[in-house]
Amino acid sequence: MEETRVTKIKLIFGFLVVLYASSICTHAADTISATQTLRYNETIVSPQQTFELGFFSPPNSKNHYVGIWYKKISTGTVVWVANRNTPLTHTHGELTLTLQGVLAIRDATTGIVVWLSANSSTTLVNNPIGQLLDTGNFIIHGEGGETNQENPIWQSFDFLTDTLLPGMKHGRDFVTGIERHYTSWRSKEDPASGVFSASIDTRGYPQPIRTQEQKITYRVGPWNGLRFSGAPNLRPNPIYSFTFVINQREIYYQYNLLNTSIFTRMVKQEWNLYLVPEIDHCDQYATCGPYASCNIEKSPVCECLKGFEPKFPDQWRVGDWSQGCRHTVPLNCEPGEGFNKYSNLKLPDTQGSWYNLTMTPVECEKKCKRNCSCTAYTTTNISGSGSGCLLWFGGLIDMRTFPENTGDTVYIRMSSSQLDKSKQ
Ligand SMILES: *[C@@H]1O[C@H](CO)[C@@H](O)[C@H](O)[C@H]1NC(C)=O
Ligand SMILES: *[C@@H]1O[C@H](CO)[C@@H](O)[C@H](O)[C@H]1NC(C)=O
Ligand SMILES: *[C@@H]1O[C@H](CO)[C@@H](O)[C@H](O)[C@H]1NC(C)=O
Ligand SMILES: *[C@@H]1O[C@H](CO)[C@@H](O)[C@H](O)[C@H]1NC(C)=O
Ligand SMILES: *[C@@H]1O[C@H](CO)[C@@H](O)[C@H](O)[C@H]1NC(C)=O
Ligand SMILES: *[C@@H]1O[C@H](CO)[C@@H](O)[C@H](O)[C@H]1NC(C)=O
Repeated sequence: MEETRVTKIKLIFGFLVVLYASSICTHAADTISATQTLRYNETIVSPQQTFELGFFSPPNSKNHYVGIWYKKISTGTVVWVANRNTPLTHTHGELTLTLQGVLAIRDATTGIVVWLSANSSTTLVNNPIGQLLDTGNFIIHGEGGETNQENPIWQSFDFLTDTLLPGMKHGRDFVTGIERHYTSWRSKEDPASGVFSASIDTRGYPQPIRTQEQKITYRVGPWNGLRFSGAPNLRPNPIYSFTFVINQREIYYQYNLLNTSIFTRMVKQEWNLYLVPEIDHCDQYATCGPYASCNIEKSPVCECLKGFEPKFPDQWRVGDWSQGCRHTVPLNCEPGEGFNKYSNLKLPDTQGSWYNLTMTPVECEKKCKRNCSCTAYTTTNISGSGSGCLLWFGGLIDMRTFPENTGDTVYIRMSSSQLDKSKQ
């Protein structure tokens, strides 16, 4: 007897995290070999029966796709779709693996190829094999030689659909040039790319963002060494661990399960249903404009930071906060300028920022002070006494105020007359 328990436990950044425990039973092929053909109603199954790959059709849809879904969830929870934007309109589809190690979906009635995993194969591969792993990753590798399971020539984990599974890397690989982001389905019936995406913005110090039609709607905030600045409640927990890796080869977010008998996934489907109740007004990107902070406990929610005043008081008074605030005493690039400390914040937008992961806080302050266009700084790693350096240039936007001892600290450039004397 198979038993599947599905429990919706939590919304994190508006992602639905589904946990379930499942049992193990029969065996089916987990591989497809070169020139083998998979047809409608034929599937391959990962060794522990966790995932299944084959043709599917969403409920109420006449279109057919190749995808990967949880085998144990009876509702057919699809986690990956190959031809999301090029469906077949009938059941006469064929999935093949070419001798060059390219996965192809063909319309068997016309012979037209509707989807290819790659346009050309530059790697020479011996007897290519496609294999569905229990992680949900479908990999194409050769027998021995340069490509193997650890170093596949292609993997579905590099091409996310709408679901972030444990072990997937969400972010950028600078060596291969691959940018892994995920995008909602257009609707429950249509896996075509929808308007909502989640990606890692690397224009400055990296930060995960959500976009709607290419416009930022929500920033999770930069990584502070322990967690994302905008999600202080996402803490180490007994279910999964998470990391954010920043180095010259790659930048990515990843989560992994601590107990392999539990599976979890983050899905970005139907954000209108799942995301909106989770985020509040202060999560809306740049609600308050520059040098202002959004505080959900206050009414109105936007307030200028200490030492700042509304740039356009009349607009501000009527709730148009978009132009934000300015220094009460303007900066003049004078040697006496320094920095005041602002705590319990979501760090400002890091687009256009500069960072160095090894500098000390003292070096960081000096570096910011030397350059008059540097408006603020903080450490990139709050662990211990703090390390790394993050510099902002220009207005500081999209901050919010968190309850005491939960947010981050940023040091903002002020004129000498405004400096907080207690700090000096
Ligand atoms: C697929 O399987 C279902 C159920 O066994 C069957 O009703 C259907 O005719 C099959 N379709 C094709 C195209 O083989
Ligand atoms: C293959 O080439 C087409 C046309 O240039 C492009 O749209 C498509 O994204 C490419 N596919 C892959 C997997 O590189
Ligand atoms: C993992 O989860 C299973 C099922 O919930 C439980 O029985 C087991 O004790 C857990 N193992 C660890 C190491 O926590
Ligand atoms: C980062 O800072 C360290 C220490 O000041 C310095 O040695 C290193 O060259 C800097 N790296 C970059 C890329 O600026
Ligand atoms: C200050 O920083 C900006 C932005 O990084 C840079 O373009 C400019 O050259 C710097 N100025 C000085 C004097 O270092
Ligand atoms: C952050 O700082 C802590 C304490 O100094 C250190 O153990 C950890 O490796 C640092 N993390 C990164 C990503 O540099």
